[in-house]
Amino acid sequence: MCKSPLHSFLLSLPKCEHHIHLEGALTPQLVFDLASKNNIPLPDLPHYQSPEALAARYAVFNSLDDFLNIHYANMSVLITEDDFYELAWSYFLAAHADGVHHAEVFFDPQSHTSRDIPIASVIKGYKRALDRAEAELCVTSQLIMCFLRHLPVSSAHTTFDSATEFINDGTIHAVGLDSSEVGFRPELFTDVFSKAKEAGLRRTAHGGEEGDVSYITGALDALDAERIDHGIRLIEDPELLKDIAVRGTLLTICPLSNVYLRTTKSVASLPLREFLEAGVQFSLNSDDPAYFGGGILNNYCAVEEAFGFSVDEWRRIAIAGVQGSWIDDTRKRVLLEKIDDMPESDLSPNA
Ligand code: ADE
Ligand code: ZN
Repeated sequence: MCKSPLHSFLLSLPKCEHHIHLEGALTPQLVFDLASKNNIPLPDLPHYQSPEALAARYAVFNSLDDFLNIHYANMSVLITEDDFYELAWSYFLAAHADGVHHAEVFFDPQSHTSRDIPIASVIKGYKRALDRAEAELCVTSQLIMCFLRHLPVSSAHTTFDSATEFINDGTIHAVGLDSSEVGFRPELFTDVFSKAKEAGLRRTAHGGEEGDVSYITGALDALDAERIDHGIRLIEDPELLKDIAVRGTLLTICPLSNVYLRTTKSVASLPLREFLEAGVQFSLNSDDPAYFGGGILNNYCAVEEAFGFSVDEWRRIAIAGVQGSWIDDTRKRVLLEKIDDMPESDLSPNA
């Protein structure tokens, strides 16, 4: 719990999460439990001696790639459809406790198919958790299938083609682009993104996390991306910033991730105040909650401690999250009413 007088307000504020990698919800304890269940040897390295040692290693990531190497190694414990289900369900339970009402969640099929795990095991396991979250927790959600930008473009095409059944039946709602950014330009993935658009899928891409602002323009122009994941380096280009504000393109910002991966010095150094004042729409998200200091509420609290936003400013952020979600108008209206109806008791007298 944070020290802000707005803590209970932030907890109750209805949230939409748009930037969470389901594989990034794999906690050190679950890595060890699944390794033992599935007989998977963990690397013979000091940080794999215990869940605590693994968690301690996360405090000293020095770059996106330093994190990704461990993130991909940990995924080797995910084998069965039930493993994917258990992982996603653990995310939804935590997100629900943090006040998430709608989540658009990423997954990385290539991290699993490259280990000979059938794509159907991954998607069916995740989908079972999404369905349960809606039925039991009233949390609606969408699945976003990401392509790994460090792998050959041909692998993205193969992945897209192998997911046809789940694209056609609506299980997959959107495509995304993630993994190492610098040197793996969005333009490489133009064709597979245009195939996705033709198939009726929504499109988003990581950009401007470690890469410069040209990775944001590349995602918008070459991929026809409707959202930008991270996008914090937008602040370096005032003209593009104005353009993005006018277009209403949502940035899915992950404050604690940016600190852990050293793409910003501190949460307070993020350009959130500038974005708010310029009318740039953004949501706040956890990215990889098992790695970067917890879930979405911890990110809201860290931002409040750094910026001291007012209740009105928080309402604007929550509303941007609803408006930027890929949900129909009826669901949007329900969520907007929930934000409007926040009980006064959730507002601290200091707010
Ligand atoms: N995959 C998981 N987390 C990521 C991040 N922050 N950037 C790029 N790819 C990722
Ligand atoms: Zn991400």
